[in-house]
Amino acid sequence: MDIIKTVAELKVRLDECRKGDKSVGFIPTMGALHKGHGDLVIYSVKENDITVVSIFVNPTQFNNSDDLKLYPRTPERDYNLLEGLGVDIVFTPSVSEIYPVPDNRVFDFGGLDKVMEGEYRAGHFNGVAQVVSKLFNIILPDKAYFGEKDFQQLSIVKQLVKQLNMTVEIIGIPIVREQSGLAMSSRNQRLTEEEKITASAIYRVLKESVSMITDYSPKITSSHVIEALNSIPGLRVEYFSIVDSDSLATISTWDSAKSIVGCIAVYCGEVRLIDNIRYK
Ligand code: PAF
Repeated sequence: MDIIKTVAELKVRLDECRKGDKSVGFIPTMGALHKGHGDLVIYSVKENDITVVSIFVNPTQFNNSDDLKLYPRTPERDYNLLEGLGVDIVFTPSVSEIYPVPDNRVFDFGGLDKVMEGEYRAGHFNGVAQVVSKLFNIILPDKAYFGEKDFQQLSIVKQLVKQLNMTVEIIGIPIVREQSGLAMSSRNQRLTEEEKITASAIYRVLKESVSMITDYSPKITSSHVIEALNSIPGLRVEYFSIVDSDSLATISTWDSAKSIVGCIAVYCGEVRLIDNIRYK
């Protein structure tokens, strides 16, 4: 496995692969890897000749400097995991390598970036779009893999690729959960063992809410989820929205869309966690 730090070196290595007509699969990450990332890698290794993983904690997508500072960084562990899964190239650029000049681009994804995470993390998706478009531009992958845990991010990346006429195929991979139901996330490393138990209520309550859809409206279901989680000491719901999975617009009846997902952000102590559940 090659660990490459510069764009120039990466391009030389990838040009060689393309001369041999090799397909390239790509997984962008911010490191602190877990089994969820592992799953994305397994798909890529199976479906492509070459798999590239980037590890880059992108400063432009953090709207809170403490969150950026506290974001877990575990490079040696990450390299071991990736090597064991058959990754060919790890790209670990510096900030100045990715942003040699300030990136002033402002993206607009219609309604997709205004709701949920967009409402509570101003500028977050603009930063994601900046870095993902740069990484796609540098790597020119055939396929790129994203976790469905970040459901809104996945929708936005699909829209980004359409807006910029990119040819990369975006593939969403189902959420990987701990045995307790807690969705795997790099942020879980910041939870104490007790908080991990508390946080497992998120998926339990989401799952219970699926059985409500035969008798209750989206609004009542949504209030139930928020109240049930807020009643647990240590948890505080930031938002829970039941939305059309294509437009991400809040739905008022279960017939309003053919595919519906509930997206949630919850603080467990100081740690902000997101998760989602499909209703249909
Ligand atoms: O999901 C993430 O880890 C990040 O948002 C991504 C896609 C790697 C961009 O920095």
